[in-house]
Amino acid sequence: GADLPLAGRHVLVTSGPTHEPIDPVRYIANRSSGRQGHAIAAAAAAAGARVTLVSGPVAIAPPAGVTTVEVETAREMLAAVEAALPADAAVFAAAVADWRTAGEAAQKMKKNGKGTPQLALVENPDILATIAHRAEQRPGLVVGFAAETEKVVEHARQKRLRKGCNWIVANDVGPGTGVMGGTRNTVHLVTGEGVEDWPTMDKDEVARRLVARIAAAMPKGSA
Ligand code: C5P
Repeated sequence: GADLPLAGRHVLVTSGPTHEPIDPVRYIANRSSGRQGHAIAAAAAAAGARVTLVSGPVAIAPPAGVTTVEVETAREMLAAVEAALPADAAVFAAAVADWRTAGEAAQKMKKNGKGTPQLALVENPDILATIAHRAEQRPGLVVGFAAETEKVVEHARQKRLRKGCNWIVANDVGPGTGVMGGTRNTVHLVTGEGVEDWPTMDKDEVARRLVARIAAAMPKGSA
């Protein structure tokens, strides 16, 4: 019905950072609270969807009424996302570490007075691009995020094409915006049709508006 516009749909959301271990006590991470991704998962559930939230380590509670899969690394996140397919829509709000260490040290690395360790890094899989380019079980609507500090919309347009996703939600995370870790967000929705500038609003409201757009974009009658 109109009150539950995503009834019968499966929505997949990634959220939070990933942690890439250096040794048993240290890791490389991205700065992400998980607030925006978790809010999207909650809003999709409130709209009647069955929701799978694949979350990196966060300090906030998993939303009620959502199946949350907790992961640590980018590779675990990709595996959990693939295991959750098929989905009608997938929203990739996680801040995935672009690189991981070439090999995790089995023991805690110690200072030995002979200089500093050199960390060799290798590239992590791009979860959004991997799913958006799938030949089989590609979600009908794939939405990525783009956190940019300059030329926000231009970079987001390029990112939409490069990643192969349908939409990009671009946000300005430059210093002084307070977006990182904050409760409010200023976003631009970049689709194949163009760019919409949304006013600054709470992340919960961004989530509700995005979910309403996702519901409106679903093919009719196939749920
Ligand atoms: O390339 P960039 O990290 O700016 O792209 C951001 C978008 O790509 C976000 O939607 C993010 O969740 C997704 N991403 C991903 N896997 C990566 C890197 C980014 O899914 N390894």
